[in-house]
Amino acid sequence: DPAEVRALSELAERVARSAGDLIRATRPARVQVAATKSSDVDPVTAMDLASESHLRALLAEHRPHDGVLGEEHGLEPGTSGLTWVLDPIDGTVNYLYGVPAFAVSVGVVAGDPDPARWTPVAGCVHAVEDSRTYTAGRGQGAFRDGVRLEVNPARPLASSLVGTGFGYLAARRRAQGRVLAELLPRVRDVRRIGSAALDLCRVAEGSLDAHYERGLNPWDLAAGQVIAIEAGAQVSGLRGAPAGVEMSVVGPAATVHELAALLAELGADADD
Ligand code: IPD
Repeated sequence: DPAEVRALSELAERVARSAGDLIRATRPARVQVAATKSSDVDPVTAMDLASESHLRALLAEHRPHDGVLGEEHGLEPGTSGLTWVLDPIDGTVNYLYGVPAFAVSVGVVAGDPDPARWTPVAGCVHAVEDSRTYTAGRGQGAFRDGVRLEVNPARPLASSLVGTGFGYLAARRRAQGRVLAELLPRVRDVRRIGSAALDLCRVAEGSLDAHYERGLNPWDLAAGQVIAIEAGAQVSGLRGAPAGVEMSVVGPAATVHELAALLAELGADADD
């Protein structure tokens, strides 16, 4: 129902902006790591935790029957068939160092909250430092601060600017480095911006041609996927698989086709 999709994308924007206000208002001069997660270089700050609690409280007030899956506090199942998928700060390492590329990512998906099976319905990625806000609702287009977005026309891979990112585990990084060494000579250039949610928005607005990454979590993908799709991107895995934790490739269809074929040839969906 278009009215419900619009209401969901408006609520995603409202709560993402509100978490952005909290993050901007309370940024300490020097951010400290509160804990680490999957490895010693995978940080959690007090603000990741505070931002997620803030988002959960707002959503509980407005959508008490929906599920919520968040990076820091896991899954609280709901009964409506919809799940809010939250990254309270995507780009935590940038946040930690004061690099301005981090965002609050709020997506809503229907069905199982697993990227290989879900249907992305609506989402908002709010870039905190420059307050740029990307939104989309299924069937209703993608927007940055009210301006409609469209992916770049498909270019051959050799002239494409490709974004990627790296996981936090050493064995995965070794494999990602090996793939990158093969890819780099075959593309225009590579960007590692440090926030997968913003990478997907960049594909949507055309400031990247394409993005790929292995090992992304549902909260890195939920909002960015619907924004990219609504801007005309194809979202895919390798060898015909849907985009998921194994691999996400996003961009104009022909570029995704070429990039996914090369990544499959390089075995980019396996660790060393
Ligand atoms: C990370 C960022 C990064 C990507 C990592 C993610 P986090 O999310 O999106 O760009 O390369 O794979 O884990 O940890 O900052 O929320």
